[in-house]
Amino acid sequence: MRTYTNVKDLGNLNEAVKEALEIKKNRYAYKHLGENKTLLMVFFNSSLRTRLSTQKAGMNLGMNTIVLDINQGAWKLETERGVIMDGDKTEHLLEAIPVMGCYCDIIGVRAFAQFENKQDDCEEKILNQFIKYSGKPVFSMEAATGHPLQAFADLITIEEYKKTQRPKVVLTWAPHPKALPQAVPNSFADFMNEADVDFVITHPEGYELDPKFVRGAKVEYDQDKALAGADFVYAKNWAAFADSNYGKILSKDRSWTVSTEKMALTNNAYFMHCLPVRRNMIVTDEVIESPQSIVIQEAANREISAQTVIKRILESL
Ligand code: CP
Repeated sequence: MRTYTNVKDLGNLNEAVKEALEIKKNRYAYKHLGENKTLLMVFFNSSLRTRLSTQKAGMNLGMNTIVLDINQGAWKLETERGVIMDGDKTEHLLEAIPVMGCYCDIIGVRAFAQFENKQDDCEEKILNQFIKYSGKPVFSMEAATGHPLQAFADLITIEEYKKTQRPKVVLTWAPHPKALPQAVPNSFADFMNEADVDFVITHPEGYELDPKFVRGAKVEYDQDKALAGADFVYAKNWAAFADSNYGKILSKDRSWTVSTEKMALTNNAYFMHCLPVRRNMIVTDEVIESPQSIVIQEAANREISAQTVIKRILESL
């Protein structure tokens, strides 16, 4: 594996989940793979889980790890070619990326959608420049359109907790005070569409995700109908994707908050969220603190999804 940006990079998904569950049983068994190898993690945006779990995954594999926060201590980077650099940006990404590549063997990149130019976001302008110019294998630690490490951890968690062969999994939009990217729901849909689950997406009208990720999934605009009989409820906010409203908040309707009443419609479903989560906007205190909430177990599996991906990259070096 030379890059990890979407579900397809994992190849056979059942095999990938099986490998992840094996790694989870003995996460230090592959320490030799990373000996004298360096993992560089580049963050253009904040993180708690991705930063800690990916660093831990690298250490489990015997790697040295370096973390660079672009907005804290690094030179301000220009990303556009042709710009006369007479402003506050000191260095161009086109020099910075190959320089970063000199100091490591594998690079993880976090670069969210900026909601300034839809085309730039959809083309994954920053992530793809790392893939093109670093000379090193690159994996996404959440980019503009996807968060495949999160979705892989989500699938591992569903596999661990499912009680039926083909569980009903509902991705529900929920309200939030800020405009959030579509990366998490995109990747979740991407993975669920490949997995053996009955997958339903529910959101208010106007919040349609990119059809590239929705593919054949059922979309139900009535949240209560969607939640009926669900085995897993995956809550997430996202901003509008459609051209004229791209990156905008269209609703803060708290009737979409996942509450005890909403969970009562389900088949005693497990509650999932990638975290961080805004309580009593996305989900009530009662639901996230209930025994059916598996958000911590889900976060713990971020170490396993990252380790599986980095292990595969190390094996390909
Ligand atoms: N879920 C997730 O990616 O968390 P962080 O933003 O804290 O890394």
